[in-house]
Amino acid sequence: MELSDFVHPVDILLEEHRKISRYITNFSDLLENPDEWEAAIQNAVKLINHDFVQHERREAILVDELEELMGKIGPLEMVEKEHRQLDSLRKRFNLALEKMDLSTVSGDDPEVLELLEIGNRLIWAKKSHFFKDERFLFAAARGALAPERLQEITWKMEAI
Ligand SMILES: [Fe+2]
Ligand SMILES: [Fe+2]
Repeated sequence: MELSDFVHPVDILLEEHRKISRYITNFSDLLENPDEWEAAIQNAVKLINHDFVQHERREAILVDELEELMGKIGPLEMVEKEHRQLDSLRKRFNLALEKMDLSTVSGDDPEVLELLEIGNRLIWAKKSHFFKDERFLFAAARGALAPERLQEITWKMEAI
């Protein structure tokens, strides 16, 4: 493999942060128009249960590598704590979604509003969490991991 083909695993994750941030803006635009509630729900489900999950699985590879190397140091613990908080918000979102029959509700039903409120909270919590990933997790990864480990992490991420 040419050296120029190498993609740093942190760059893969940063690109996902950028992509997800753009989707979050679309979701917020939908929320501003009550007639777009069905599209807003679809958008939230895709973000929360697909894009977020895929990103988290890739990021977990990096977290595991760093913990193996450095132990459970404070900054990594803080990032992991936020991951757990985001997970529990996701569970709340999916529980609210399961209880609803989207074919019979309308945009001003309290359950729709509650679902969108949880989705909105989770999506913005995720966006503000990106700062911690970048400041602590990604900075540690750039400084601590040996080049041969980086390549293997990238391959593992690309396989997801
Ligand atoms: Fe992240
Ligand atoms: Fe994260």
